[in-house]
Amino acid sequence: MNALHLPSSEFRALAGRMTSIAADFLAGLEEMRAFPQVTAQQVTRAFSAPLPDEGLRGTALEALPEVLAMSRPPSPRFYGYVLGSGEPVAALADLLASILNQNVTAWRSAPAAVTLERQLVHSLAGALGCEGFSGSLCGGGSMANLMGLAMAREARLPGNERGAQGGVVYATDEVHMSIPKAVALLGLGRANLHLLGTDVNFRMSAQRLHAAVAADRRAGHTPLAVVASAGTVSTGSIDPLADIAAVCREQGLWLHVDGAYGALAALAVPELFAGLAAADSLSLDPHKWLYQPLDCGMLLFRDAGAARTAFSFSGDYARSLSADPLERFAFFDESLELSRRFRALKLWLSLRYHGLAAFRAAIRADLQHAQQLAAVVAGTAPLELLAPVTLSAVCFRHRHDGLPADADRLNAAILQRVIARGRVYLSNATVRGRFALRACFVNHRTTDADVAGIVPEVLAAARDVRV
Ligand SMILES: Cc1ncc(COP(=O)(O)O)c(C=O)c1O
Repeated sequence: MNALHLPSSEFRALAGRMTSIAADFLAGLEEMRAFPQVTAQQVTRAFSAPLPDEGLRGTALEALPEVLAMSRPPSPRFYGYVLGSGEPVAALADLLASILNQNVTAWRSAPAAVTLERQLVHSLAGALGCEGFSGSLCGGGSMANLMGLAMAREARLPGNERGAQGGVVYATDEVHMSIPKAVALLGLGRANLHLLGTDVNFRMSAQRLHAAVAADRRAGHTPLAVVASAGTVSTGSIDPLADIAAVCREQGLWLHVDGAYGALAALAVPELFAGLAAADSLSLDPHKWLYQPLDCGMLLFRDAGAARTAFSFSGDYARSLSADPLERFAFFDESLELSRRFRALKLWLSLRYHGLAAFRAAIRADLQHAQQLAAVVAGTAPLELLAPVTLSAVCFRHRHDGLPADADRLNAAILQRVIARGRVYLSNATVRGRFALRACFVNHRTTDADVAGIVPEVLAAARDVRV
């Protein structure tokens, strides 16, 4: 018997213990602090035991409660960054996906998983109004943005054979950090990322884009692609996609839409996303606004041929012998990834279990929660809103009569104090150079009462730091 063999009775017993640990954790979520009361030293010490040479068998699981206790829980009162809440049906599917251990790279290595992922991607694209788009799941929005821009580069200024030729990519100064990273990794050079200032609503101006493209051409540069944001990471603003698409069409530029934060909200409020279907490529993040456990990103594209041009390069050992177009299909021809986990199972099961209407309702509740918070902030004299609330991100801060740097320092201290108090978790943003407290609602557990607790917590933290 192999030393790693696990009898099925033992698996069943372990799985039972595991699910009851998970169920107890979920049942206790509401009462938990939004951030654990631990120091880095305590956590380091807790996990410093050397790995055992002799297996601990079932007692190995006894360390799990400590892992849970020292983790930031997916609390109803977590509003940091853009981080989905981890829908539990999807989490259960993740367990099964790991048991199945499919390599979702080609039909022949994972017939059900590949077919299911392809159909899921088509269905979601259709539900977003992007009929006919195809694509694949990936690790997250950063990966999707990198792949979208790789497609752009290969479609407009091919570099796969002889190296990158340069070319200018346009976005606003509100664009997510994964875009400069992708531009650098693709050999285009961050100096060739032309960041445009935004209008009063933190959106790209199509006129300004048009002028920048013309000026760059006059200066001898080669415009390549535009990255429009469908939900900027700081304020959730949505660039005017239809107008930008018109400029791209006229100028022959690739349009990549970074919808990692916001575009899935088009399921519930499509009117905010007019022009989304004009994208050549579109990044989405079901692990943000479809509440999926990490990781679950998605890249959609209009032309699968462009994806193959960018990514298809396979060794002989990976050649398919089938003549059937479905059986020959390989995700590795259309994506950067080769070995791929069965991410589609969780998303598919979670969508089937709850139904699309429930997800739409959850997204609407998040949008409503953002408006609720914005209204309270606007009506609370010591606080001020720093940006309009388009989606579910609310940027605000405590007023301060002193120098701008003092206001920033005060709000940074308030944020640290809010987190230390442990009742709510906020993060920060820089809005027009000013330090902002930021709450982002992509959390299916949050209630109206939870949202009502945010401003009192901020005011209490402000009192704490001022004494
Ligand atoms: C607008 C936007 N794009 C891209 C990303 C990157 O996504 P991920 O963290 O899944 O790589 C984020 C993450 O917050 C985002 O808000």
